[in-house]
Amino acid sequence: MPATLSGLPQEIRKELRLQLQSKPVAAVPSLGLVPQLAVACAQGHDADDMLAIRRRAGVIAQVVTTRKRLAYESDNNPVNIRQTVMGFIQGAYTFDRYKSAHSTCLKQCDLLGISGRAARAAVREGEIIGNATSFCRDLINTPAADLGPADFVREAKKACKGTGLRLRILDEAACQKKKMGALLAVGAASAADRRARLLVVEWNGKNTTRKKDFIALCGKGVVFDTGGLNIKPGRSMQLMRKDMGGAATVLSAMIALAQLNGKQSIRAYLPLVENSISAEAFRPGDVLTAADGTTIEIGNTDAEGRLALADAMCLAKQEGAQKLVTVATLTGAAMVALGRIHVPIMGDQDIVDQLSHAATSSGEKVWQLPMDDDHKTMVRGKMADLTNSDGSGEAGCITAGAFLSYFAGNLPFAHCDISPASWQNKQHALGPAGATGVLVSTLVDAFR
Ligand code: BES
Ligand code: ZN
Ligand code: ZN
Repeated sequence: MPATLSGLPQEIRKELRLQLQSKPVAAVPSLGLVPQLAVACAQGHDADDMLAIRRRAGVIAQVVTTRKRLAYESDNNPVNIRQTVMGFIQGAYTFDRYKSAHSTCLKQCDLLGISGRAARAAVREGEIIGNATSFCRDLINTPAADLGPADFVREAKKACKGTGLRLRILDEAACQKKKMGALLAVGAASAADRRARLLVVEWNGKNTTRKKDFIALCGKGVVFDTGGLNIKPGRSMQLMRKDMGGAATVLSAMIALAQLNGKQSIRAYLPLVENSISAEAFRPGDVLTAADGTTIEIGNTDAEGRLALADAMCLAKQEGAQKLVTVATLTGAAMVALGRIHVPIMGDQDIVDQLSHAATSSGEKVWQLPMDDDHKTMVRGKMADLTNSDGSGEAGCITAGAFLSYFAGNLPFAHCDISPASWQNKQHALGPAGATGVLVSTLVDAFR
């Protein structure tokens, strides 16, 4: 196999060069001249635009969908190789498990022109993070009927096998014992086999100075959000199977962190619950008590994610977390604020900076929103300590984060609202319409 494009037969080189004159990526069938079925390359090298590098590979993977094996010219920079591999995996992703006929997507890509230990390590890293992103997408794309809380736990167990991650499951009775009144209220109307539970995933990194220190990543795992008694109108409910996106993202990042043998100790706290409707449902005007004793009046049963996360954060705090990060499809307001492009993040500046740097280095986009004491005042309750919705509709993305900040107490805290960016309605450079897996690579880079 030729080591670089320059080693390829002249016919192929000529055709690629010709295509590159009019478009950024080129792909040609190899006509049996090389072992691969097609050869592709891209224009130039935007040396430090990680997203551009990732997207280029993603586009090529989609251009050559009918080919099973592709050759692609890469430079030998490990940082670029990692992005390229992630891009190929994301671009080639399909969710066809419910189709009778499976789609023809790219199965293999040989990178030409790479050599050495650092390059090979970058390929492996790209594969680990790329595959974790695909796992995240699969979980989010799966219909709610096939992914209730128990199914999520089963999939997590399967995926964590052999990674060194430790799983703990608090079932409904265990959550009752811990007095998780907020999480349990959200799950009160769900069927007996879809009741609330809390999944804890632990990674013990070697470099943690004090053995018990760890960072907690809390991910919203609402397997379906009807809105509860404040029911969502039809169109708003259509895609609510994706409301467990925070839990899927955090779990996927944990798997990648373990496979990459991350140095820090991290724990995921994933409340898994269905926001359903029945005579047992919690009501607007009810007052709930979270595990740390904070009382919450219900302004809107559709603001359920912050309730489920509140109890997850209480447990993380009780167990000795040093820092808290929440990842959630928390508000529709996030879409109004930033659209599907940037993930809004807010909280203590150190963690926000850590997440921002990790996003840039891994080719994702986040954007800091302000969150200060005035926002925190907005979620104080009239009858109880807090309200889960003040009803004003003002700064909705930030007040959701402000609500969560109360449960972080004095610990450093940051919140990421992935509700818009975790899903794309149309095919894009990094994959088909549907779940994106956004933030998996950012979390891995931030906390490894
Ligand atoms: N799961 C939704 C947020 C959401 C909306 C995610 C659209 C993805 C797409 C969340 O539970 C919710 O309904 N939030 C309410 C809060 C409001 C009642 C304070 C919202 O954003 O409207
Ligand atoms: Zn809701
Ligand atoms: Zn929700």
